[in-house]
Amino acid sequence: MKITVVGAGAVGATCADNIARKELAEELILLDIKEGFAEGKAIDMMQTAALLGFDTKIKGVTNDYSQTAGSEVVVITSGLPRKPGMTREELIGINAGIVKEVTENILHHSPDTIIIVVSNPMDTMNYLTFKTSGLDKNRILGMGGALDSSRFKYYLSLELGCSPSDLNAVVIGGHGDTTMIPLIRHATWNSIPVTELLSKAQQDKVVAATMVGGATLTGLIGTSAWYAPGAGTAAMVESIVRDEKKLISSGVYLDGEYDQKDISLVVPVILGKNGAEKILDFKLTDEEQAAFSKSADAVRSMNNVLADMKLL
Ligand code: 2OP
Repeated sequence: MKITVVGAGAVGATCADNIARKELAEELILLDIKEGFAEGKAIDMMQTAALLGFDTKIKGVTNDYSQTAGSEVVVITSGLPRKPGMTREELIGINAGIVKEVTENILHHSPDTIIIVVSNPMDTMNYLTFKTSGLDKNRILGMGGALDSSRFKYYLSLELGCSPSDLNAVVIGGHGDTTMIPLIRHATWNSIPVTELLSKAQQDKVVAATMVGGATLTGLIGTSAWYAPGAGTAAMVESIVRDEKKLISSGVYLDGEYDQKDISLVVPVILGKNGAEKILDFKLTDEEQAAFSKSADAVRSMNNVLADMKLL
C-alpha cells in the first residue's frame, strides 16, 4: 500500500504521523512545495519509528510528483489555513487554483487513486476536485464530517461528563461555521438518546460550540487546528485501506441524495476499499432537511465562484 499526503504543513504532517503510527501503508510520500520542508518533516517522523515501533517508510519530496506514482490513496491538504476571524470561504481565491493544480499533478501519476480533500473551503474544493478529476464519485471524498463529528462528541462529553468514545454523534451539511448540521436528535450515549439527558439549553450550547469549533481554535492558536483534522483524515484513510466499511460523515458528490444534485456536501458514507461505497440517504425531519437545503444554497453560491475564476 502506497499513500501520498500533499502538503507538509501542520494538518498534512499530523495526518502522515497518524498514518505511520497506525501502519496504514508500507510507503508514505509527503510532498510539499517548499524546498526541503517535507523532507525534514519526514525524517523527523522516521526518527520516531524506533520509539513508536512502526514500519511505514515515510519519504519527503519537494514538488516531485513522479515520486507519488502508484498511490492508492492521496490526501490533499495544500493551500493556506485560516487566520483568526477568517471564514473558510475566504480562502477560495488562493486555494482553488492550488487544489486544481495538485489534483492534475496527482492524477498524472496515479490515475485511479482515491482522493481525500482537506483544503478549505472543503465542500467547494471537493467539488472542484471531483469535476477536475473526471473520476467516479466514490473516489473523491472531502474531510469535514469526521472532524466535525468528533468535535461534536467532545462538546457532548463535556456536558454529559462522559468519555467521548462512548458517544455516537454525526454532523452533516457543509464544513463551514454556518453550514454544518450537528444532528443532536440522533446523538446517543451508549445507545441512550442525549436529548433525554441534556436540557434544551445544553443541547443548543453543544450544537453552537460544534459549529464554530474550528473558528474557536483559530482564535486561540492563531491558525487552523491540526490534531483533530489530521486524525479525522487518518480515520477515513484507515477505513478505506483496511476495507473496514465504517460509517463516517464525508464530503461526497450528491446526485439526488438528500434532494441535492451537482454539489458536494457532508453526509454519512460507508468507507471501504472502493472509497465511498454507499451513501446512507436516510430521512431527515422537515427542519433538518430545510437546514440541509440552506447549507446547499450557501455551498452552491461558493461553487459558482469557481466558474467566475474559470476553474471549471
Ligand atoms: C478545521 O475545522 C482545518 O477546517 C479545519 O479546523
